[in-house]
Amino acid sequence: MSAQYDAIGARYAGWKETPIPTYTEVPTVKRLLSGTIEGRSVLDLACGTGYYSRLFKQWGASKVVGVDVSDTMVAAAREAEAKAPLGIEYQTTDAATLPVLGSFDLATATYLLHYAETSEAMGLMCRNIAANLKPGGLLLALLPEPDYVMGQGETERYGFTYRLVAAGPEWQLVHADVHTNPPFSIEYRHWARGVFEKALQAARFTDLRWHPFEVSPEGLAKFGPGYWRDLIENPMSTILTARLPVSSGHRPI
Ligand SMILES: C[S@@+](CC[C@H](N)C(=O)[O-])C[C@H]1O[C@@H](n2cnc3c(N)ncnc32)[C@H](O)[C@@H]1O
Repeated sequence: MSAQYDAIGARYAGWKETPIPTYTEVPTVKRLLSGTIEGRSVLDLACGTGYYSRLFKQWGASKVVGVDVSDTMVAAAREAEAKAPLGIEYQTTDAATLPVLGSFDLATATYLLHYAETSEAMGLMCRNIAANLKPGGLLLALLPEPDYVMGQGETERYGFTYRLVAAGPEWQLVHADVHTNPPFSIEYRHWARGVFEKALQAARFTDLRWHPFEVSPEGLAKFGPGYWRDLIENPMSTILTARLPVSSGHRPI
């Protein structure tokens, strides 16, 4: 998977300026972390160009460590850090072989777990994430929506088009062309809901909760409700949160 993002590199950052991340994804992540992230340490897995790592620091995290399998993405993240330092550390590491880097309050996996090519690989990622969290620690994962209906609704106005490449009993592999300037293409899997849930539960995570994206008041005012209808009726992505059990002497994050 490193090769795919080694080729995309900093072009991925263009997607984050389009309406879906700006007016739905980021406001929803911010609301879910608000009141929790302030003063906490965060391990940002699949940090890419450091987009969320930087936001987490700006939202009040005390410490942020970003890890990604792609050298090119980590280089772009380090460049952003060098230009405007926030004190974020970045490392090139595969989440499937992630060592213990610390004992973090929060872990984020913004578009990571679905890149596991097998459910076993996803299980490994989840176990490694758990090993890096304190008891009671919180994981927030951004994921392709498991119930996404291919072919329903229009995506061009949101800045991408896609086609189904292959399907198995528990996943659908999609090729998406992202119409940013410059454009790029990616392939990713929509895994079944139960695969994520089983991988997390096997890694001792509890309190699993799915959170649909919301459209921010700014997004509604700028584009009107009709623009967002297809996304709300057939969301392409979603958020899953889960917690490690609390042990005696620790409070939940
Ligand atoms: C869609 S990008 C998301 C980047 C960032 N989290 C964001 O939301 O802007 C997916 C990222 O996952 C990384 N990735 C894929 N498989 C990985 C793995 N096994 N371990 C660590 N990072 C991985 C890719 O290199 C890429 O940077």
